[in-house]
Amino acid sequence: MKPRSAQIAGWGTYVPERVLTNADLERMVDTSDEWITTRSGIRERRIAGPDESTSTMGIRAAEKALCRAGLKGSDIDLVISASATPDYMFPATGCLIQDAIGAKCGAFDLEAGCSSFVYGLVVGSQMIAAGGYENVLLVGAETLSRFMDYTDRSTCVLFGDGAGAVVLRACDDAYGVQAFELGADGAGCELIILPAGGSARPATEETVRAGDHYVHMAGNQVFKFATMTLGSCAERVASKAGWKLDEIDVFIPHQANLRIIEAAQKRLEMPMDKIFVNVDRYGNTSSASVPLAMVEAIDAGLIRKDQNIVMVAFGVGLTWAGVAMRWGVDV
Ligand code: ACO
Repeated sequence: MKPRSAQIAGWGTYVPERVLTNADLERMVDTSDEWITTRSGIRERRIAGPDESTSTMGIRAAEKALCRAGLKGSDIDLVISASATPDYMFPATGCLIQDAIGAKCGAFDLEAGCSSFVYGLVVGSQMIAAGGYENVLLVGAETLSRFMDYTDRSTCVLFGDGAGAVVLRACDDAYGVQAFELGADGAGCELIILPAGGSARPATEETVRAGDHYVHMAGNQVFKFATMTLGSCAERVASKAGWKLDEIDVFIPHQANLRIIEAAQKRLEMPMDKIFVNVDRYGNTSSASVPLAMVEAIDAGLIRKDQNIVMVAFGVGLTWAGVAMRWGVDV
């Protein structure tokens, strides 16, 4: 078989209508627009409506991705739902999405914290490269607002909801994924954790009273890990792809905090106009953040055929993941 790769052949996003601004948060917790913007770069984020969830938002994004790829649900060979906030412990959100889009294929959930979508890019593209599949649907969707304590100013100002989806399709190996890195350091597992509701600590009245069904985060330590990881992972995947840093045309970083992105920009000595940023409008949407940024970069005319794109995510786990991709379709 000829060597082959996988490229992004369709893409779509969905964000809920409700906007929660820094001014709204000032009325909810002891914070200020000034603190939030200077520490994180975030101005507003989206919050899912009562009838929305990770699967419903993921389905909306998936439908757009299928349409852009010119495919029906029945053309999809595999569905991967990448999320840290699935609808349920089980069944898999991937199965809910698979059913809703009319796919007749395997489906599963991939959970690697905020790196889930980029992990999914690697898993899906490797399954295509190995010859097992032609069209893989990858959905990165999150409903973080359901796991936020809106009395805890150290977390609730940072996160938002949304979804992005891509269709990965087999292509000539000159295009698509050229190099990747998956990383994990489980020693940092308690730095961002949702302590209760799993098999280690099932939900009880006491865990709910303690607020352990909400996200707990040691922000400072995560910040240090993130600033070390984002730029260095981008360097490594570019180098594995055989690219010099100035041959990267567009860098799509995980949108957690503008200061983390700026630290990577300095390390990479990359002009800011090559780095797509939308954390100001969505906050940190975890697994949805890279596809939300990627699709907006396409819509802004930043990503074009024959360009070298690097995407890097990091987060819960701790995990990180990077992909170097040569863009192969007309936009
Ligand atoms: N408003 C006002 N003050 C606040 C707020 C707030 N929303 N939150 C915290 N503070 C206070 C703290 O209580 C602290 O006060 P103190 O000095 O009196 O104790 C002070 O601000 C400074 O707190 P720091 O934690 O030192 O602030 P820092 O400059 O580190 O910024 C932040 C905090 C924005 C959370 C930063 O550490 C960060 O971005 N960390 C990384 C978080 C991240 O990216 N997480 C996600 C990765 S995983 C994923 O993507 C899901």
